Amino acid sequence: MSFLTLTNIQKSFGQVQVVHNFNMDIEKGEFVSFLGPSGCGKTTVLRMIAGFEAPTGGDLFINGKDQRPLKPNQRNIGMVFQAYALFPNMSVHDNVAFGLKVAGMAKAEIDARVKEMLGLIRLDHLADRYPYQMSGGQQQRVALARALAVKPQVLLLDEPLSALDAKIRVSLREEIRAIQQQLGITTVFVTHDQEEALSISDRIVVMNAGRADQIGTPFEIYNTPATRFVASFVGTLNMIEAKVVDPAANRIQIGDQGVTLKHSIAAYKAGDTVSLALRPEAGSLSDNVKSDTALTGEVVSAHFLGSVIRTRMNVGGNVISFDMFNAPGVTPPQAGETVTLRFMAADLLVIRD
Ligand SMILES: Nc1ncnc2c1ncn2[C@@H]1O[C@H](COP(=O)(O)OP(=O)(O)OP(=O)(O)O)[C@@H](O)[C@H]1O
Ligand SMILES: [Mg+2]
Repeated sequence: MSFLTLTNIQKSFGQVQVVHNFNMDIEKGEFVSFLGPSGCGKTTVLRMIAGFEAPTGGDLFINGKDQRPLKPNQRNIGMVFQAYALFPNMSVHDNVAFGLKVAGMAKAEIDARVKEMLGLIRLDHLADRYPYQMSGGQQQRVALARALAVKPQVLLLDEPLSALDAKIRVSLREEIRAIQQQLGITTVFVTHDQEEALSISDRIVVMNAGRADQIGTPFEIYNTPATRFVASFVGTLNMIEAKVVDPAANRIQIGDQGVTLKHSIAAYKAGDTVSLALRPEAGSLSDNVKSDTALTGEVVSAHFLGSVIRTRMNVGGNVISFDMFNAPGVTPPQAGETVTLRFMAADLLVIRD
């Protein structure tokens, strides 16, 4: 049995159901991200795990124990919030010590644990500071230390990086991941930043309107999105409308150009429209790349983005974006130019709606 299991969890506020049959099994020591747009129910699920909200239906177990009858302070869960939620009138030391004092730990033991926690987040030298004397990134590290001090069985992080600027976000997310792995603590991390989720998670739950659309490793989520929502939310993706020509032979047509897919379209009929997805990094204009498929079209625009050049081309009414590295000798294509995009047919995914 998994360490943290959510089975058919539901939540309604009055007449409005915001979480629908949410299922998730999390293994001990796993780092799982909930990824989804604003309002999809990420915080609500997290608050149900912590015990701040009661599910309207479903089961919630941690380490084989039913959590529903337990109050938040009986669940032994550490939580870090989006906004800095340190006690403003307490020093860093006292913030981290807070939960330990409540638990009735002896002073010498508390001091030792606080020292250990501040060492973990590399802020030992700031133990006497107050929250207002620290940067946002430092405050969030203290909030993490405070959550971890009580040795929680599960760590919940609700967009802990969203108030920080881009550079700090990247370094702190790596620090959180390293600490999580060092302690082996089962962690749920909420974010609406796809890159963040892809870079630090063992698995990702992509949430859409109170449901888990797809659960998988970052690699699976990015490379084989199960639904149109996942495909469009995770990464920049080209959606292409194609016409089915011969479903048994996987033959389709994009505009007037025929393509043989690698993925099955046996469920479709000739004449049906099928939605396909292609990652911008899957194609190349060069004719000496490994490819089995080509599409010809007219360049709509080419944008220089630093390390890559993003080009948009029109293929039978579909605008397809693709990226190429700004390597020495590469000349960006010009608008109006006719170009041929080469790629592997296996990279053309069939997306169900
Ligand atoms: N106490 C409440 N009473 C009524 N509706 C609520 C309550 N809490 C949340 N909701 C609603 O439930 C839905 C999900 O909210 P939730 O806070 O879980 O979203 P979220 O995915 O965390 O979004 P964000 O990324 O903006 O934090 C929203 O439509 C929200 O308005
Ligand atoms: Mg939220």
